Amino acid sequence: MARALVFIAVTTFVVAVKAARPLEVANTVHTLAVEGASELEEKFQAWAEKHNVNFQSNDERSERLDVYKSNAELVARHNRAYLDGKTTWAMTLDGAYAATSSEEFEQTRLMTPQNCSATHVGTVPKTLPEDTLKLPDEVDWRTKGVVTPVKNQGSCGSCWTFSTTGTLEAHHCIKHKQDCTAWTGLAEQQLVDCAGAFDNHGCDGGLPSHAFEYIRWNGGLDTEESYTYTAKDGKCEFKGSSVGSHVTEVHNITAFDEDAIGVALAKSGPVAVAYQVASDFRLYSHGVYDSYDSKTGTTVCKSGPTDVNHAVVAVGYGTTDDDKKTPYFIVRNSWSKEWGMEGYFWIKRGENLCGIADCASFPDAASL
Ligand SMILES: *[C@@H]1O[C@H](CO)[C@@H](O)[C@H](O)[C@H]1NC(C)=O
Ligand SMILES: *[C@@H]1O[C@H](CO)[C@@H](O)[C@H](O)[C@H]1NC(C)=O
Repeated sequence: MARALVFIAVTTFVVAVKAARPLEVANTVHTLAVEGASELEEKFQAWAEKHNVNFQSNDERSERLDVYKSNAELVARHNRAYLDGKTTWAMTLDGAYAATSSEEFEQTRLMTPQNCSATHVGTVPKTLPEDTLKLPDEVDWRTKGVVTPVKNQGSCGSCWTFSTTGTLEAHHCIKHKQDCTAWTGLAEQQLVDCAGAFDNHGCDGGLPSHAFEYIRWNGGLDTEESYTYTAKDGKCEFKGSSVGSHVTEVHNITAFDEDAIGVALAKSGPVAVAYQVASDFRLYSHGVYDSYDSKTGTTVCKSGPTDVNHAVVAVGYGTTDDDKKTPYFIVRNSWSKEWGMEGYFWIKRGENLCGIADCASFPDAASL
């Protein structure tokens, strides 16, 4: 019963998004083409009220307004390219980062680029067992009730801890056949505070594969409820009495092998992936992210193993149902449910875009 309900909720949401968005996109293009500065300023005021943004001074307000205006230009140019079919994703000026510059975003939300080029030979077989040789056309673990609600990392480069918990929570729930759609899950703060010896750096960054190794070595990860997230580096306070999950094995997926990520998603469960967030990504609204630069027609992000600055959770894959049949991964972010498509985004699959297949990994959850 609970599972059926989850499925209906997800389906309804997807339909609603598709129906409502084209007008919004057209409006952002319209904004720039015909409106004067004063109209854009009114929009900015409405945006600030909607997001409860308070300005300390007039100077601060006008600085923010300038950033908002330059973002509005970017959004308008990009969305025109989207409407022309040159790119497969749309931007929004309604989100929380509409008055944040790319540089500021990088400093407060992203981690220092990590080196994930330790050539790892995948421990995941590249092919499926004989009896299931064909991969399903689509996979979405959200429809199975094993994915916890989307969280918010705040101003701390701790994405890697959210990628770790989001992935382990799902594997835990698959293993224990548990409905986890309302579970608060596992403690990111424990990873921020305690996993330093495994080449992790709290709010400055880390890697899910290293975090899984820490959890395995440590003998478990506390629950979110018992170890509160603060978005700041702190002292390790692992208690051991409120462990929510254990890791018995860590699987690295062979670098650059997106098919192997597909196999892992189909066979095992969600996968922790890292990639490079480029200057355009914070304004994502919906669609398949392809990092298209509307000024030059080139790709914005880089894809090398030392470029990755963000870690997230792949929860499935699919192909768009239009003529283009664009393949994508379904990815869970940690910038709250208000960002993107209810906290999720799609990213193009099949060309290691932004390094999405540079350092993918997943754990085996233990029986408790
Ligand atoms: C990244 O790590 C690899 C393997 O550990 C090493 O060979 C390489 O020099 C490192 N690259 C950088 C830029 O630190
Ligand atoms: C898994 O990948 C990480 C880098 O993401 C690396 O540090 C680690 O050594 C790899 N583990 C194995 C068993 O290859």
